[in-house]
Amino acid sequence: MVKELIEDFSRVFGDCKEVNAYFAPGRVNLIGEHTDYNGGNVFPCALTFGTYAVARKREDRNVRLYSKNFDELGIIEFSLDKLENLKAHDWANYPKGVIWAFNNLNLNIDKGFEVLFYGNIPNGAGLSSSASIELVTSVILKDLFNIDIDMIKMVDLSKLAENKFIGVNCGIMDQFAIGMGKEKCAILLDTNTLKYDYAEIDLEDASIVISNTNKRRGLADSKYNERRSQCEEALRDLQKELNINSLGELSEEELEKNKHLIKDSINFKRAKHAVYENQRTLKAVKALKEKDILTFGKLMNDSHVSLRDDYEVTGIELDTLVELAWEEKGVIGSRMTGAGFGGCTVSIVKNEFIDDFIKHVGEKYRKKIGYEASFYVVNIGDGARKLD
Ligand code: GLA
Repeated sequence: MVKELIEDFSRVFGDCKEVNAYFAPGRVNLIGEHTDYNGGNVFPCALTFGTYAVARKREDRNVRLYSKNFDELGIIEFSLDKLENLKAHDWANYPKGVIWAFNNLNLNIDKGFEVLFYGNIPNGAGLSSSASIELVTSVILKDLFNIDIDMIKMVDLSKLAENKFIGVNCGIMDQFAIGMGKEKCAILLDTNTLKYDYAEIDLEDASIVISNTNKRRGLADSKYNERRSQCEEALRDLQKELNINSLGELSEEELEKNKHLIKDSINFKRAKHAVYENQRTLKAVKALKEKDILTFGKLMNDSHVSLRDDYEVTGIELDTLVELAWEEKGVIGSRMTGAGFGGCTVSIVKNEFIDDFIKHVGEKYRKKIGYEASFYVVNIGDGARKLD
């Protein structure tokens, strides 16, 4: 793969003197959805597919970026003195935002550079192709400019780029999973304290299967922000009597006892999801550590029901994939993953039943929804890094 990309670099940028190669994965969240902006826990892992990049420094102050995935847009070029989000620069606004974030911290990107990118994460599928290109750019900047910065800081800067330069109000889960991922492990991250712990994922005779609805997220960003404000409103109501900083600090019992404080019934449902999902994530990780995969799977199913009925971020495509999965032999658990409204589901399926799972769920989904779903049997890989 890298060899081929270096050849591509030569073709696009003239030669391949002094290039280096880098990689950042995509991610999938196993459980803990819509908790990362509520001070709760998440449990994502990095994947083995992601974004590759080949890069080298320039002597002037121009940045030249090219993506094999967007060949038709050609080389996108801008000066370090003009770091603005431009519609015409499309995907290149993500790496540009990261340069902007580094410069914001006076990390002194004083020379231009050129990069060829290639990603094999399905686009718009909710597997974090944007956080992946942000983190690979961070690793490139650290390396090309010899910046003394650790991965957690690069995670922060990538999130800053997404929030302030791109304008997407996401939490920290995606960037964290992609920066800090570890082979064969998921990360239990407390988004309140940023304390984290790796948990080995040993599914024995089962695997993680991602099913893609192939429905683009579309309206997701505005709905995402709406859910955030509903949770914030519920929190403000609770704070009138409770001394808490986030919904993640509450147990299920504490929420039920103070239910009357939340004025709006919809806001209560949103808060209920956030609180129960946070506790569910802790229970799921405990079950996993005790090798109780069945309980882990059952909690994944409960997570989906809560996202469907209380948080209302699923939709017919995600519900169809998950409900069909639940009917299949060998399925230990299945739920939507990521922001919702489209994108993917994550299922744990016994290896001997995976072929049937893909065949049956695929056929029934096409019949009901009218187009194909896609399926990927995935492995958990390491986080963003320079390649040898
Ligand atoms: C998106 C956001 C994350 C997180 C999830 C929902 O992926 O980027 O920060 O909020 O949705 O869990």
